[in-house]
Amino acid sequence: MSAQLSPIDTAKFVAAKRACDFVENGMRVGLGTGSTAAWLVRCLGEMVEKDGLRIKGVPTSTRTAELARSVGIDVIALDEAKWLDLTIDGADEFDNELNLIKGGGGALLQEKIVATASDRMIVIADKSKHVETLGAFPLPVEVIPFGWQTTKALVEETVSALDVLGDQVSLRMDGARPYVTDEGNHILDLHLNRIGNARQLALVINQIPGVVENGLFIDICDVVVLGHGDGRVEVR
Ligand code: 5RP
Repeated sequence: MSAQLSPIDTAKFVAAKRACDFVENGMRVGLGTGSTAAWLVRCLGEMVEKDGLRIKGVPTSTRTAELARSVGIDVIALDEAKWLDLTIDGADEFDNELNLIKGGGGALLQEKIVATASDRMIVIADKSKHVETLGAFPLPVEVIPFGWQTTKALVEETVSALDVLGDQVSLRMDGARPYVTDEGNHILDLHLNRIGNARQLALVINQIPGVVENGLFIDICDVVVLGHGDGRVEVR
């Protein structure tokens, strides 16, 4: 399959395919969101169909739920699964400590809940996602719609005091309207300078009323499966 793909899609595909090796019969598996996670879901669907793999999949978005069902994965809700053996998801950035920025696809809240409720989280990524220090990718922060402009001002003030704020905090848009998450919330994208202390920033942002969750995943990811455009895969 990878021969017909662009280098970036090859990298995503081989990472997803390799991550499938961690999936065993009978597992409850968290299914991430995004283009890399979509490769994973398709690969798992193929294993269900061709190899008789039996898993329960807990999707992290309505998009992933639809895709998983369409490829024959038995989809259940997190509350039905209660606890997961494994979650496999993409990321927007990961550093050498395997801390992440996630939420570029707008699903950070369910992704963080599902990953946290798992024995193990595996990130699948192409090498463009690896950074020495998190922060070049705008940090997504999910906020409730009520008073979002006030919340935005509080986020700006709080983050400025930590000296990490770059040029702006922007409301994510979907055409002419604010983007709406699966939980009916909005997303603020924080354009930061480098995030020197991601743990502190994650804690401070979550203290602000109106903030539901932020896209920093600290001490959640256990393994990164890194795909390359030439088909090589590294497991870190
Ligand atoms: C969605 C996410 C995605 O995992 C992240 O944006 C990476 O997406 P892609 O695999 O398409 O690059 O966090 O909320």
